[in-house]
Amino acid sequence: MPASEGKTSHDAAIADYREYVTTSFVAAVEPVVVARAEGATVWDIDGAEYLDCFAGISVVNAGHRHPKVIAAAKAQLDQVVHAATYIYHVPVVGEAAKELARITPGKLQKTFFGNSGAEGIETALRLAKAYTGKSEIISLTHSFHGRTNATLAITGNKARKTRGGPYPSGVAFAPAPYVYRNPFNTDDPEVVAERCAEMVEWAINYQTSGDVAAFIAEPVMGEGGILVPPASYFRRVKEVLDAYGILFIADEVQSGFGRTGKLFGIEHFGVEPDIMVLAKGIADGFPLSATIARAEIADSLKPGEHLSTFGGNPVSCAAAIANIQVMEEEQLPEQAARKGERLIDQIWEMQSEFPLIGDVRGLGLMIGVELVTDRKSKTPASKQAARIRAYCREQGVLIGVGGQQGNVLRLQPPLVIDDAGLDRAVDVLTGALREVSS
Ligand SMILES: Cc1ncc(COP(=O)(O)O)c(C=O)c1O
Repeated sequence: MPASEGKTSHDAAIADYREYVTTSFVAAVEPVVVARAEGATVWDIDGAEYLDCFAGISVVNAGHRHPKVIAAAKAQLDQVVHAATYIYHVPVVGEAAKELARITPGKLQKTFFGNSGAEGIETALRLAKAYTGKSEIISLTHSFHGRTNATLAITGNKARKTRGGPYPSGVAFAPAPYVYRNPFNTDDPEVVAERCAEMVEWAINYQTSGDVAAFIAEPVMGEGGILVPPASYFRRVKEVLDAYGILFIADEVQSGFGRTGKLFGIEHFGVEPDIMVLAKGIADGFPLSATIARAEIADSLKPGEHLSTFGGNPVSCAAAIANIQVMEEEQLPEQAARKGERLIDQIWEMQSEFPLIGDVRGLGLMIGVELVTDRKSKTPASKQAARIRAYCREQGVLIGVGGQQGNVLRLQPPLVIDDAGLDRAVDVLTGALREVSS
């Protein structure tokens, strides 16, 4: 008998998940059983309305079911849904790749399409190794790059890696440019940038055999707790990489597609990556990843060496093209920049009332609020963060939580959210902070 029999549809959905869906995450949060979504609004199966300030983990940047994206996907459904892109050519796939070459920085030109961020990162690692003939990778502490074996190997956070090891070797870690918590006893961002860039060189010299293919980093670190590197960090790191002939892979899975107030997060930092990985916001919710590289790097994989059956799905590619058009027409990166600045100011203003707020940081609508039980010791207030997320959900606002200790509130709404929506999020957040502070 199905678990759902004789139950309300809400309870039935939860029962089916508990019994038949392999997922470790829903155990940690009270699930919302979603029936429909539009823009920045989600309705559950009983009609309750939620303001979505997490965008399906930073995916629906153009809003849930943007009409132009949906129309493009529906039109493609009537043409062809699957043709195995690497055997047959479908025009829309080539067009999507051409669009990515147009909008990404520098000489990034050729795209390998996959289906998830992790698959995109795996491809980037393989490309870097094939092109350089070298084998080791430098990554950052606090990073997150996915849940496959190789992407967990380069993830710098034990909270994500438990019970999966040992992971592939040949990975070294340098400290994240995490200004609020840094091992250099300074609160000067530029000193953190300088020291952390020196530590990349240190990692090359003392943790590897010198056979380093690539350095990989998220331009703004998401799961690690919304960590924004100081302005000069990537320029300084790039100097080190160039001196050692090491490629730079930008993991834009979470920071891409307007999220940070520019189309791509790395554009804030004045350097050009050799390989860039895109997923999440690329097609406004349709599954797709893109690993885009300079042509000579992309061409280092020989025919047949790398392939993904579903990679470059025509419906997802049609959605991606429409999504890019929407980003440009509606100036979503600019909207994110303006709305994010206002939101960060509003949250900073709350700091004087709530000692729980240790730090507020972000770029565009990728915002983190780090909670601490005591501003001096900076002890992570993880339980309070979980309670605030639950309170917000009860009040109809969905937010995320991140950071290794789960003490960073994450506000990453669809970029189309309006000012009234953001004001409501601030009101509910204020109520939540009051509740857990009392
Ligand atoms: C920066 C970053 N890289 C890679 C991934 C993995 O993406 P996916 O879950 O689509 O495999 C994520 C997912 O959260 C991410 O935030």
